[in-house]
Amino acid sequence: LSQENQDILSAHEWLAKLYHHLLRYTKDGKEGYGYLQDRGVKDESIDAFQLGFAPNVKDFTAEFLKKKGFHQQLLVKAGLINLREDGQISDRFRGRIIFPIRNHLGKTVAFGGRATIGDSKPKYINSPESELFHKGKLLYNFDLAKKHIRKKNEAILFEGQMDIIAAYQAGIRNVIATLGTALTEYQAKLLKRYVNTVILCYDGDRAGLDAAYKAAVLLRQSGCEVKIAHLENNIDPDSFIQTYGGDAFEKEVIKASDTFMSFYMRFLKKDFNLNHEGDRINYIEKVLKQLAMIDSPIEREYYVKELSKEYGISIDTLTNEISGYREKFG
Ligand code: GTP
Ligand code: MN
Ligand code: MN
Ligand code: MN
Ligand code: MN
Repeated sequence: LSQENQDILSAHEWLAKLYHHLLRYTKDGKEGYGYLQDRGVKDESIDAFQLGFAPNVKDFTAEFLKKKGFHQQLLVKAGLINLREDGQISDRFRGRIIFPIRNHLGKTVAFGGRATIGDSKPKYINSPESELFHKGKLLYNFDLAKKHIRKKNEAILFEGQMDIIAAYQAGIRNVIATLGTALTEYQAKLLKRYVNTVILCYDGDRAGLDAAYKAAVLLRQSGCEVKIAHLENNIDPDSFIQTYGGDAFEKEVIKASDTFMSFYMRFLKKDFNLNHEGDRINYIEKVLKQLAMIDSPIEREYYVKELSKEYGISIDTLTNEISGYREKFG
């Protein structure tokens, strides 16, 4: 590691401690502490994730780090403070809950900051990309989750930090998150090195559904077995756990998650109006093409029966069609 990057790590370590201390023990952090309490975040989780608060002061961070001997130029490079064209500086994170973002070694390499006021935009901001922080290579909470993921041979993948914290509070530890961005091939391959099965548990909205499909495809390509949890629209893992509790989450969401094929059948429906005959036929054709790629005859038969029941097409016809595709694709 270059001297510069070592210094950047050191600045992050100081800041994470400072923001955390402010949130947990001081009047300056009350706004953040109250916000987290309202969202059901316990002190123990605040400590485990070293959550903090950056006060809404223009150069609070800049001043603190300057006193610690860090050069302004370094802090600008690290994305902790902004340098305006007129030479004025201002902190990047102001009036926000701070989530330290740690790499797989447990070193804080970036911060995420959430607004405490409901509708202030943007809701979250992150540190910029740097030599130490590549959003597409890092998985949030991977350092703490790694051993649990190995032990269970199963990882649960969420969208965001608050989902991780809710799961943590429910005693579910094999959890990681992409920070709101699409899963990358790099992350999929990284996961494959640690785990066989990944349970995708994205938000139950349109965006979550689309992201889950793309992530599922990537994970399968990297050799993982994928299951996809099903949440209703407007629900995310955090809100589910806060409303129904951790036991319900494990039983009704995680244990009940769909196989890729079941998920695909549900996912595809959005493109078709199944009340129309033509659409229905196209839909079934598409599902059969996907089914043809499954190697296990038992699995194939299972879904064929489902389709046959749901759409009133004979099992023979469906099976013949699949055989045709299998010959064509080899
Ligand atoms: P909460 O309201 O805090 O529970 O967040 P959310 O569940 O509405 O987050 P959402 O599902 O919208 O996004 C999931 C993750 O994406 C968050 O945890 C953030 O890491 C990230 N994210 C959300 N909104 C923004 C944004 O406006 N900017 C950026 N850069 N990231 C965001
Ligand atoms: Mn949202
Ligand atoms: Mn979302
Ligand atoms: Mn969400
Ligand atoms: Mn949420």
